[in-house]
Amino acid sequence: MQKKINCIILASGNGSNALNLIHVFHIDTKEHKNAVCGINISAVVSNIKNAPVIEKVRLAAPDIPVFFLPYVSVSERGNFEKELESIIKRFNINCIILAGFMRILSKEFVSKFHKKIINIHPSLLPAFKGKDAIKSAFDYGVKYTGVTVHYVTPEVDAGPIICQEVVKIEETDTVESLELKIHDIEHRIYPAALKKIFV
Ligand code: GAR
Repeated sequence: MQKKINCIILASGNGSNALNLIHVFHIDTKEHKNAVCGINISAVVSNIKNAPVIEKVRLAAPDIPVFFLPYVSVSERGNFEKELESIIKRFNINCIILAGFMRILSKEFVSKFHKKIINIHPSLLPAFKGKDAIKSAFDYGVKYTGVTVHYVTPEVDAGPIICQEVVKIEETDTVESLELKIHDIEHRIYPAALKKIFV
């Protein structure tokens, strides 16, 4: 039998990517019992107390444990990572999926989980690293931007690229319409990238 990869999702906000991954790898898989799936979503962690992702996951998949581990300021990072590591051990996690996780993990933590942390970023890296990538690309006036799925390394948004997809910014686009286009791509390529790696 195929070995299951136990994944934990880290998310800070709205959770559309987290929810989409849960649909693809958990809800749809349960509904279609014969579906081939080597990916098991074992838990979700949010660093923000009232992040919409927490309630959304609890409603959509009550059997997936959701944890709130506070991490807003850097002073909380040590404790966040310690608690996260204990969840990782408890659930025998092999892969950490960042899905709109808006905090930086320490170099020590990232080095410990080499090639086991994957992130999605809403630009064509190495362009527009960091926060507000969609708006930064739009404001800059680039004609093309996109989405990148990559491994996380100690240097922020600089790890090996797993896949990318380009989106054209049309004259008629606004930041909001661009955001919708980017999310559509994210929801398609993140599960596809994970399947390519693990299934
Ligand atoms: C997504 O667009 C994701 O690529 C981005 O945050 C958004 C989260 O949306 N991540 C980053 O900017 C990471 N630097 P979601 O909460 O609806 O999934």
